[in-house]
Amino acid sequence: MVKDLFDRIKSDKGPLGKWADKAEGYYVFPKLEGPISNRMSFNGKKVVTWSINDYLGLANHPEVLKADGESAATDGLAYPMGARMMSGHTKYHEQLEQECAEFVDKEAAYLVNFGYQGMVSAIDALVNKDDIIVYDMDTHACIIDGVRLHAGKRFVYRHNDIESCEKNLQRATRMAEKTGGGILLVSEGVFGMRGEQGRLKEIVALKEKYNFRLLVDDAHGFGTLGKDGRGTGFEQGVQDGIDVYFATFAKSMAGIGAFFAADKDIIQYLQYNMRSQMFAKSLPMPMVKGALKRLDMIRTMPELKDNLWKITNALQSGLRTAGFDLGTTQTCITPVYLKGEIPEAMAMVHDLRENHSVFCSIVVYPVIPKGLIILRLIPTARHTQEDVDETITAFSAIREKLEDGTYKKVAAAMM
Ligand SMILES: Cc1ncc(COP(=O)(O)O)c(C=O)c1O
Repeated sequence: MVKDLFDRIKSDKGPLGKWADKAEGYYVFPKLEGPISNRMSFNGKKVVTWSINDYLGLANHPEVLKADGESAATDGLAYPMGARMMSGHTKYHEQLEQECAEFVDKEAAYLVNFGYQGMVSAIDALVNKDDIIVYDMDTHACIIDGVRLHAGKRFVYRHNDIESCEKNLQRATRMAEKTGGGILLVSEGVFGMRGEQGRLKEIVALKEKYNFRLLVDDAHGFGTLGKDGRGTGFEQGVQDGIDVYFATFAKSMAGIGAFFAADKDIIQYLQYNMRSQMFAKSLPMPMVKGALKRLDMIRTMPELKDNLWKITNALQSGLRTAGFDLGTTQTCITPVYLKGEIPEAMAMVHDLRENHSVFCSIVVYPVIPKGLIILRLIPTARHTQEDVDETITAFSAIREKLEDGTYKKVAAAMM
């Protein structure tokens, strides 16, 4: 007898879904209200907000709102209609591509509507069944899903471990010699959970010994690292060694959309082979004109990145001085590592939000190993020293309660 598919779905909601009854609306799917800023409303009260990726504070900048609003009023949200290839192409899309390419020092660029589907689709387009993918085990879900589409071999290396990377390149090389294919190595510029930079310099150096092409997802590096925020390749002085550069507009650019940048012929290949763009509607005009405005501001307003780093340094040095473990972060991403189980983590975050008015993301198993809690803070150019001071005081208070078992008791009562 064939089972009803939905019986399984209803009984096994998945590792996160099983917490839905207890977590929804508060720990997951919370509603942060009011204008995007360093302090927003949650459950009717103002909280210091450390959970949005508006790194440069552009989301509600008056010039950004004006550009977005003007385009929405004149172009509407529909124009252009259709996929880029068919009827969804405009001179503004082209202009944005050219400006993105110039900014990251590549010959050409191509826009995609969402970073996630763009990355899945680009990986799918770049490799065929004879090619081999080598990738870091901690890469973002969009890379993992792109790799899943790959019909050929793939090798995963231990996170940011160059020895393991090289070993897997050797295996990939042996395999590619048999299949007659090439090798695509995929890393992130900045790993979003722990805040480490990908070891791009060392990876690029491996090109001396192995024949591979490098694709870098720089979602968190674009706007935050390198000269003028040009990204992790610039930060490490190896932008030339990145064959296909990717950044999303969803973080520093405070918008929607993303782009790939590479040599002209590679970008042209993606234009004609990336299925997520060939078979989907083009990015709407307010997103495009709004992105042109944001890019111009990133280029011409270095104070945005300076403010971001001023707050980042104050937050990270303050937390470290207060004895917190921030792991191996080398970027603005500020993970605070604590020990505890999921129910304790929930009680702690409840206390943090309700009694200390601090809102940050909570990361638990299965995203990280069991028994570990990460409170993840994303500083932005809009945060203030007052936000930092209040947060460090709050963190010290909750750590004490975590360590003396208070949250274990609260959690037991809550369950
Ligand atoms: C590393 C990384 N790659 C890709 C994406 C997806 O980008 P988008 O939000 O534009 O789909 C994200 C966003 O969460 C990300 O962090």
